[in-house]
Amino acid sequence: MTDTLARAFELLDQGDRGGAIAILYQATEQGAGGEIAGLLAELRAEAGEHEQAVALFTRALADDPGHGPWRRARLSSLMQLPARREEAQRFCAEILAQRGDDPTAHRHMARLCLEAGKIEAAVSHAREAIFLAPHDLESLGDIADILTTAGEPLPAVEALAVALAQAHPADPALPFAAVAQARGWLALAEPAKAATSLRRALELDPGDSAGAQGLLDQLEAADAPADLPATFVRALFDTYADRFDRELVGRLHYDAPAALRAVLDEQGIAGGRDVLDAGCGTGLAGLAVRDMARRLAGFDLSPRMVEKARARDIYHELWVGELVESLTQRPASADLLLAADVLVYLGDLRPVMAAAATVLRPGGLFAFTCERVDQPDGFLLHEGRRFAHAEAHVRQALAQAGFSILTLCHHSTRIDRGQPVPGLICLAQQA
Ligand SMILES: C[S@@+](CC[C@H](N)C(=O)[O-])C[C@H]1O[C@@H](n2cnc3c(N)ncnc32)[C@H](O)[C@@H]1O
Repeated sequence: MTDTLARAFELLDQGDRGGAIAILYQATEQGAGGEIAGLLAELRAEAGEHEQAVALFTRALADDPGHGPWRRARLSSLMQLPARREEAQRFCAEILAQRGDDPTAHRHMARLCLEAGKIEAAVSHAREAIFLAPHDLESLGDIADILTTAGEPLPAVEALAVALAQAHPADPALPFAAVAQARGWLALAEPAKAATSLRRALELDPGDSAGAQGLLDQLEAADAPADLPATFVRALFDTYADRFDRELVGRLHYDAPAALRAVLDEQGIAGGRDVLDAGCGTGLAGLAVRDMARRLAGFDLSPRMVEKARARDIYHELWVGELVESLTQRPASADLLLAADVLVYLGDLRPVMAAAATVLRPGGLFAFTCERVDQPDGFLLHEGRRFAHAEAHVRQALAQAGFSILTLCHHSTRIDRGQPVPGLICLAQQA
């Protein structure tokens, strides 16, 4: 057996892979397992012959069940076989039960969870894999794709930024990691940063084995987005949550909650209402109207903002949710809907107005602010990555959803670079 192994390595050194495989195969046919089966399994896996590789690793492991590299390699080959997903899942769980600090098993478990729709578990295994092997560029590219697909592109680009900065320029995994980073940037609505990553991938690998050029072409041909990706908005506010109140109220003189309250008072709106604070953020608008609420509920896309709102202890119910989806899912459940500085993250307002009409009971009120652009109709995404809406677009979207306008006037809710940002404040009533 030792002779067979020595001869196989000799042949491999001479570049005779076929010869090495032939003598290893002959030995396994005669019953050899252990290192001979292990080496042949590695060669089969390298050639993409994963069914054979799995069988051979199984045989090798029968002689040495604790052999870490063979276990990991068997798992990697199993992951290449879509028909054997359940087996991969079981084997991965077995490895993690024995070695909870195995980054490869965490990475594969993340992929398996993602495929099974278990998004939270996928994200948690992916984060653990990064923590355990923060410089493994080849794995990081895969993990970043998992996180981006799971709607968590921010930790993906962060992890890759560190690893890419420290990588050796000749590392063959580098262009793939740069492309994975570009996908993350795209999900975060950062096309310029995505383009930089893609150009870097192309410089490093002009043969473009990572597929950077196709993405770059798509990026250059793309029109301006009609909406901001939810992943971008969530990441923005998750990172912003700790300083939101200080920055908005202190630096930007943000006053949407107080201004909405003033409009409600001016219109003589009575209290005792079921209030829903859409895009509640840290709860500033909830705070401004809580004495008008029989029941105060709120939701936001950003879990960290919801955490801050919860800490105020003024809401009867809070949840993490997207605007249109959350409003549509709770028909006729509110008398007063607030959206303070939230519609600036949406382009076309018609779907959200229709959803607002759904969540309100007959005669219910919708109080909101938005940014204003003085153009005949429509909306635009400005460089601050917020949408500004034409007054005509707001009026039309409200009318289409069956709202009548009680008041709609110009109001600036914040100062930006010393200038008041043009805006609208509105109170509308459901028919
Ligand atoms: C500028 S903050 C305003 C927060 C709060 N309304 C206030 O007045 O302090 C905008 C909030 O809207 C949330 N948001 C933006 N787009 C959203 C969407 N599509 N669904 C749910 N929340 C959204 C953000 O996560 C953020 O917390």
